[in-house]
Amino acid sequence: MPIDYTERIPNNVDLAEDRRLQRALESWQPAFLHWWGEMGPTLPTQDVYLRTAVAVGREGWAHFARVKLPEYRWGIFLAERDPDRTIAFGQHRGEPVWQQIPGEHRSSLQRLIVVQGDTEPASVEQQRRLGLTAPSLYDLRNLFQVNVEEGRHLWAMVYLLHAYFGRAGRDEAEALLLRNSGSADSPRILGAFNEETPDWLSFFMFTYFTDRDGKYQLGTLKESAFDPLSRTCEFMLKEEAHHMFVGTTGVDRVVERTAMLMREHDTDDIGPFGGIPLPVIQKYLNFHYSVSLDLFGGETSTNVANYFTSGLKGRWQEERRGDDHVLTGAVTEVEQLDGDRIVTVELPALIALNHDLRTQYIADCETGITRWNRILARYGVTGAGAALRLPHVGFNRKVGLFAGGHVTPGGQITGEAAWAAGRPSWLPTPADKAHVESLMRPVYEPGKIAAWLAPPRNGINGQPLDYEYVRF
Ligand SMILES: [Fe+2]
Ligand SMILES: [Fe+2]
Repeated sequence: MPIDYTERIPNNVDLAEDRRLQRALESWQPAFLHWWGEMGPTLPTQDVYLRTAVAVGREGWAHFARVKLPEYRWGIFLAERDPDRTIAFGQHRGEPVWQQIPGEHRSSLQRLIVVQGDTEPASVEQQRRLGLTAPSLYDLRNLFQVNVEEGRHLWAMVYLLHAYFGRAGRDEAEALLLRNSGSADSPRILGAFNEETPDWLSFFMFTYFTDRDGKYQLGTLKESAFDPLSRTCEFMLKEEAHHMFVGTTGVDRVVERTAMLMREHDTDDIGPFGGIPLPVIQKYLNFHYSVSLDLFGGETSTNVANYFTSGLKGRWQEERRGDDHVLTGAVTEVEQLDGDRIVTVELPALIALNHDLRTQYIADCETGITRWNRILARYGVTGAGAALRLPHVGFNRKVGLFAGGHVTPGGQITGEAAWAAGRPSWLPTPADKAHVESLMRPVYEPGKIAAWLAPPRNGINGQPLDYEYVRF
């Protein structure tokens, strides 16, 4: 069913049929627009070449056009309903999915939706100043595309809160606009979403590692027995693919330029030539990867076990798993700190579901490492110290079984002093950040690109690279 853009809130959920809900959402809309004005992109623009969802089917779901940013049509789009869908896991496996929320699961589902919803506007807030230093109009356009879609993901969660959680849901929807990333009084719920995204290397790392965490969280909610949540997340994942693309190809291009400069000047020290040295890329990677691992929560959780058993939240690609999808007798191996050693313990699979999801995520992250090292190899950058790698899962962790430990990127356990001494070679230092910041100069001429990253392979939606993706 195509989406009707003459409505105040574009949607494919028959909003016009439910006047109360429509009015509630229409009264939330000005608060959202006010938030966008205050906390959204700071760079003033005339218009931006953006995609907008026009349908939810497989083909032709998006329409590209020049849009004035504050006039982007944020709407409510759920994937098509499958009338035969059944619950894929847990104690209700095989039963029809729920169109309404069973009373006993109300508060848990509300919490899951609020936590997911809180991350969406947070990233817009974190990225709001990046437009001032965009390395090209192409990149600037991608930033804004990610921003408007994260705004729409907030709408997706707010719709569920308004439609299914009554008064409490409306209060939570309001609160989603009151918390702010990095705020001392009312910060965002999760740690990584209170970190700054001050430069474009951080942005590419964020969209690679932190947006990818989002992909995996949405993947578990897509399995939910609560069908409207499942359908919402399914469509969000479709948009999310572009955010992954921005991260993956963004890091590709930084790595490529770095490799080029290393070859050209026959040195690792490419800072003076306007590039980002490989060790600095590795340190940014270490940081964003480790704070993103924290987003998976503790390795063990009885809450998550209960969510699974009762059907609220499944595993990544639940239906492709070759087990009984109930997991009452299953066990799994989990690494943890034991004094000055890292040991592997066997735990019931049900309580280690966060660990399971994190394991899937790590395997996905490895694919980025492989492609970046291939780029380095293509430029003849090889040998010891010339490859990027994911740090050990215990490195720099604040959450879970490694929290409070001092694990090096290589997986060695050290003391506090040794860790502090090693820190400048593992995580970005003030000097590294200052160098990266010094490269952040806006390039707003069509077809031109900053010197610290390679140009993209292709334009957006078949447009040439020198297309005027953003107009001022
Ligand atoms: Fe999102
Ligand atoms: Fe995203």
